[in-house]
Amino acid sequence: MSKRTNDEIIAFRKKHFLPNAGLYHKKPLHPVKAQGAFIWDDEGKKYLDAIGGIVCISAGHNHPKIKQGMKELLERDMIQHTSTLYLNHQIMDAAEAILDEAPKGIDRVAFTNSGSEANELAFMAARQATGETMIVNLRHSYHGGTSGTLAACGHSSWRFRSQPVASVTSAMEPYCYRCPFGQKPDSCALECAKNVETTIQTSTHGKIAGFIAEPVMGVGGFIDPPKEYFDAVAKIVHNYGGKYISDEVQTGAGRCGGNFLLTKELGIDADIVTMAKGFGNGAAIGAAIMKSEVADTMAGKAYFNTFGGDPYQTMQAAMTVQVIREEKMVENAKAMGKLLKDGMKEMMKTHSLIGDVRGRGLLLGMELVKDHKTKTHAVEECLRFMDICKDKGLLLGKGGLMGNVVRIAPPLMINREDVAFMLKVMDESFRDLEKEMGARH
Ligand SMILES: Cc1ncc(COP(=O)(O)O)c(C=O)c1O
Repeated sequence: MSKRTNDEIIAFRKKHFLPNAGLYHKKPLHPVKAQGAFIWDDEGKKYLDAIGGIVCISAGHNHPKIKQGMKELLERDMIQHTSTLYLNHQIMDAAEAILDEAPKGIDRVAFTNSGSEANELAFMAARQATGETMIVNLRHSYHGGTSGTLAACGHSSWRFRSQPVASVTSAMEPYCYRCPFGQKPDSCALECAKNVETTIQTSTHGKIAGFIAEPVMGVGGFIDPPKEYFDAVAKIVHNYGGKYISDEVQTGAGRCGGNFLLTKELGIDADIVTMAKGFGNGAAIGAAIMKSEVADTMAGKAYFNTFGGDPYQTMQAAMTVQVIREEKMVENAKAMGKLLKDGMKEMMKTHSLIGDVRGRGLLLGMELVKDHKTKTHAVEECLRFMDICKDKGLLLGKGGLMGNVVRIAPPLMINREDVAFMLKVMDESFRDLEKEMGARH
């Protein structure tokens, strides 16, 4: 393969990629190697990867068992592509592994290449099962980049002028830090959950196909609704004839600690659960799992996904689930997540830029604000903070409607030393940023 300089790659991208192919960081990162929780760039600099390629690395980069599984398949010239038209046993391994972790009553699975496709399939299944068309989503949500999923996207920045919003209506966001009802979490009456009912009553004909929500909103900035929200909403959704779709593309694969699926941990009465990202530990695989009563209604119609269920991807997913279980990574995510969150809460006392610390397990966010009273979004500061952390060897992500939420989602196998490093770098970076801001004012 030819060797390109970074400047050549950047120039080519600018000229030939779509203009929205953005890059993180002022000096873009060019990773060439990854192991466990670490990444090395083309100059040999080492980074702790606390965003995991946008929440995709669960078991750790190039986990030795998964790598061995890949090598074995390659060495025996395992067929690359079978689709579901031929048999392979890897697809069964992956299906068994994920159904073992599924909430009660969910016993059917279909594999896709991505989270978007898994959600498209979920919408189709909910519509087929109910004979209805309307989907209710949440403001601030993100469910993918395809036409149908973008129609259920709660962010203007992701929607194009030509974007259809057919058969989707949005309910208010369960966003405690910026409650759209002006309430406080400890004294509210779950107005956000009731709003799902009001939305159905006012924006549909009174029946819906489904409701879709992430148990923690990822792209939205790790918005973590109160636990009681889900039970109240699932009841409303079912009362109006809809199917509850739980989008676990970011929250799944044990990331939130407590259970492989947050849907199960929270006891959400979901009819369909979708996943991708960490489920394949970086492999291009997604899945929609659902109750038989939903799946059965799809009989007699063709559904085909050319690459969905191929041996290499499904092997990686099956091994990922196995490794997460064997190495007790869900438990580790809970313990390390608590350490990290406690440390971030402590940092809030000295760094006024941090308006809110939230999330579950190793899916943690810090919302940066210019002022605690006005909660003005600290957008530039968030970008600069990420760059300073990168220079110190820590990779972070960002999210939120305005892009002012630092997103932290490291591999689930990080240890205490990694957590201490992350906290130290973030603390130092906030200090550096505060100095810069002081110098500018
Ligand atoms: C919650 C959620 N659902 C769905 C998707 C879409 O997944 P993909 O990009 O694999 O299509 C994403 C991607 O970020 C996501 O965060």
